[in-house]
Amino acid sequence: MIYLNHAASSFPKPEPVISAVEAALRSPPEGEGRGGELASASSRCRAALAALFAVRDPGHVILTASATHALNLAIHGVLAGRPGGHAVTSLLEHNSLLRPLAHAARDRGLCTTWLEPDPEGRISPEAVASALRRETRIVALAHVSNVTGSVQPIEEIAAVAADAGVPLVVDAAQSAGAVELAHGALPGRGFVALAGHKGLLGPTGTGALIVPDASLPPLLTGGTGVRSESELQPEELPLRLEAGTANGPGLAGLAAALELVLARGVATLGARRAELLGELRRELAAVEGVELVAPLPHDRRGGLVCLRHARHAPEELAYLLRASFEIVTRAGLHCAPRAHAWLGSAPRGSVRVSVGASTTEAEVSALCAALRRLA
Ligand SMILES: Cc1ncc(COP(=O)(O)O)c(C=O)c1O
Repeated sequence: MIYLNHAASSFPKPEPVISAVEAALRSPPEGEGRGGELASASSRCRAALAALFAVRDPGHVILTASATHALNLAIHGVLAGRPGGHAVTSLLEHNSLLRPLAHAARDRGLCTTWLEPDPEGRISPEAVASALRRETRIVALAHVSNVTGSVQPIEEIAAVAADAGVPLVVDAAQSAGAVELAHGALPGRGFVALAGHKGLLGPTGTGALIVPDASLPPLLTGGTGVRSESELQPEELPLRLEAGTANGPGLAGLAAALELVLARGVATLGARRAELLGELRRELAAVEGVELVAPLPHDRRGGLVCLRHARHAPEELAYLLRASFEIVTRAGLHCAPRAHAWLGSAPRGSVRVSVGASTTEAEVSALCAALRRLA
């Protein structure tokens, strides 16, 4: 099988990740006071994520079930307390960011400005600055779009939000493991949500939210294994935002994955993605009947491209690639309906091809050969 759907989840998982998940399932999950394997996997994940994202205090790394969980924690938490207010976001966003904002709009009267990207798929810091209002309470944007692959100038956007005293929520689901981001260097109040199972190479069911301080209210309250006599959630991080028995095998796998990513280096992994995407775009441009959905960003570390075929609708093309050539891609709206509407590819969307750490040039060429045959 040729797997070109890394933007959904990376595959295959590295052997040390698989072994770590298996070893965790074979070990007693916790010792006294929730020590043991689980505590050690959690603290290895926190330490590795703190190193990868230059987080000053590993306690500010909140382990979550997904980027979706992390985004809900951040967005609902930042907006908690009073109704109304204004949010700045973009047309490129994934439903995991878009829906928490849409629910806040429907239920609490939040008003949202949807910024349109430039022809390269970039949201400029100037556009963010001019959308800010006195009542703006949140700026929420993806670092890398899962439809265009465009990389946003998030550090500059953070400076704009910080000047206005507005918290910034960064959806780093696609960028983590390929585009460097130093949380500790972001000015202002930055929240970074990430997925453990995409570019970070860990198991599904893992993610994290990096928080600037202990001000977010919990989304879930419950057992923490400490201070059980108190009926209220502990105040301090990370326990304040982590309730319930954690995903031990997932965290053991994620710890192994993060240590691999640290050893290879995010810059190296990002450069490899960009190289493969360059090759893919060059080869695809010469395949008859295939149209690459613009924009095609200059920065190729997003590692993905969306395409359409003159003869086959997106779902049909993805099906044919899978059934006839054992090539896995992803068809449809990619959970980003406004992005496809902006691109003119709604309602059917497109076929997304995404490369990852394990992709080879031969796999890229095999996809192009299959598309030539289909033409
Ligand atoms: C840009 C973006 N944000 C959020 C998510 C959600 O990630 P998770 O599957 O970890 O909830 C995805 C994954 O599909 C994504 O591409």
